[in-house]
Amino acid sequence: MGQTLTEKILDDHLVEGDLEPGEEIGIEIDQVLTQDTTGTMVWLQFEALELDEVQTELAAQYCDHQTYQFDFKNTDDHRFLRSAAGTYGAYFSRPGNGICHNVHKENFAAPGKTMLGSDSHTPTPGGLGELAIGAGGLDVAVAMGGGPYFVEMPEVVNVRLEGELPEWATAKDLILEMLRRLSVKGGVGKVFEYTGPGVESLSVPERTTITNMGTELGATTSIFPTDERTKDYLERQGRGEEYVELSPDEDATYADEIVVDLSELEPLISAPSMPDNVVPVREVAGEDVEQVIVGSCTNGGYADILPAAKMVSGREIQKDLEMIVAPGSKQAGELLAREGWTAEMMAAGVNVSESTCGPCIGIGHVPASDSVSLRTFNRNFEGRSGIEDDSVYLCSPQVAAAAALKGEIVDPRDLAEELGDLESPGVELPDRYDGSKADIIEPDEAVDDDLIKGPNIGDVPLKDPLGADIAGETLLKMPDNITTDHIIPATSDILKFRSNIDKLSEFTLSRVDDTFAERARESDGGVLVAGENYGQGSSREHAAMCPMYLGIEAVLAQSFARIHKANLYNFGLLPLTIDEETYERIDQGDHVEVVDDVAEAVASGAEEFTIRVNDDWEATAEFDASEREREILAAGGKLTLTKQQYEED
Ligand code: F3S
Repeated sequence: MGQTLTEKILDDHLVEGDLEPGEEIGIEIDQVLTQDTTGTMVWLQFEALELDEVQTELAAQYCDHQTYQFDFKNTDDHRFLRSAAGTYGAYFSRPGNGICHNVHKENFAAPGKTMLGSDSHTPTPGGLGELAIGAGGLDVAVAMGGGPYFVEMPEVVNVRLEGELPEWATAKDLILEMLRRLSVKGGVGKVFEYTGPGVESLSVPERTTITNMGTELGATTSIFPTDERTKDYLERQGRGEEYVELSPDEDATYADEIVVDLSELEPLISAPSMPDNVVPVREVAGEDVEQVIVGSCTNGGYADILPAAKMVSGREIQKDLEMIVAPGSKQAGELLAREGWTAEMMAAGVNVSESTCGPCIGIGHVPASDSVSLRTFNRNFEGRSGIEDDSVYLCSPQVAAAAALKGEIVDPRDLAEELGDLESPGVELPDRYDGSKADIIEPDEAVDDDLIKGPNIGDVPLKDPLGADIAGETLLKMPDNITTDHIIPATSDILKFRSNIDKLSEFTLSRVDDTFAERARESDGGVLVAGENYGQGSSREHAAMCPMYLGIEAVLAQSFARIHKANLYNFGLLPLTIDEETYERIDQGDHVEVVDDVAEAVASGAEEFTIRVNDDWEATAEFDASEREREILAAGGKLTLTKQQYEED
């Protein structure tokens, strides 16, 4: 029977299990990626494993999320990361060199390879035929140590593209259309494999915009086949020899098929405050805009910024708004500067910023209160921009530039008609992407051979092995769609404690209830209760580590986001799935007790537990852990288990 492209790559890397949807498989990882917010913990965990060097073909450490250095803590973190990369043999991309996904795509992503990254948008290089998956930092640390990565074999969905994009419609509109149709939960447990005649009309940067934002669908990853476009992109990057032709078999069978006719797409926009809140731009036209930002790992490349630069060139943006362009990488920034586009943008009134995630997570360029911000990013979760009651729209660079010229949301087709001389900028690649490599330190150029830890860099917290009893107060009852941003906000004042768990844990769930951390510390254990899709958003393992540190032992939710659930196991927390009725009946403050002997039930393969609430009523909670996840839980977490396994070998 024919194979999908996903199955082919997984088959090549399979070390455990069968490629049956829902079955747990173990795969060998070729490349790993970490960034600054997750990387400090990854390296502390790698240190705890007591290995001499990175075991994968390639590991790369980026500094992108928090590059504006407000105080010594960030600088100390960056120095620690450089020293860890040097000590253990990873590439190090200096702060300001760009966002991990952009820089990785440009320099390292290669067709047919597997990659694991401690960032949820790791799937970005799927646009180049790399099978890239986002995971918690601990999984990444273990993969760097040569261990397989375990994941539930996803269903592979065929996204068949037909036709070609019309003028003013973009790859961003295609992924927004997917979100409109499928919602932020539509991709859970799935890989989206793009096929069909429309694929060849899309350049690699357009494909990576789509694979990047597949994360917002909740997908395990997204992938494109490779072709002349892929080869051409790699050649322009000076890496033509890394090209490999990859495609699914003609008789491959898919779990599902979605057909998108590119020629029917129009400019779309995601309204506040969920990425799947997608409507045609014309539906919200006329809304006043105070801030426009072009950049991020979704639309921060040369081919993304150039259309916006062309549109504002020779014009001026409106006086009552601010437009910021933050190139996703220095390579993009350097090319745009060399070709004169940076000067054109500056002359138009644009503020050209450093290559950083920054504003995507509320670090710099926070919108004014009660104002609309239009961004080319991938997420608009409430409060993520750095202000609680924000109003962030997500759109293509073309729609963003049109708003900057008009001062309000406008469909660029209507603006073009109004102005008369505004042409659709299309997508253009540079002849060669030959930016400087001065900001990438290769393993053999390492400047440090020992770890350098500042005073804000603490120890990795460890949990005791799983015991027989789990019981405690429901310390917090939460609604559906609680994100990792709710659990541990990624704003600058909080994120600077990412390697200091004692301090960081004070902010746990503070955006839901600012008394939570204090109450959790005071109580002797406790549980969390949540609705659907608990832990959606990022791979931030601090979102599991901090509740664990505060004594939480179990999370009872109607459903969990994939990466976060893995993180709960990795840090020894019991994820239990409850039905809607149970969710409705439990109140905050209720005493919840797992009736069974937990350690024994986990070890013996139990798939459900009985919970007793207030010593009054009982309900069943489901538990669908694999054998390996049960082992992790029993040991008190993955780090302890992996160490034990290395010691035995
Ligand atoms: Fe950075 Fe935002 Fe992407 S934080 S990695 S630009 S989603």
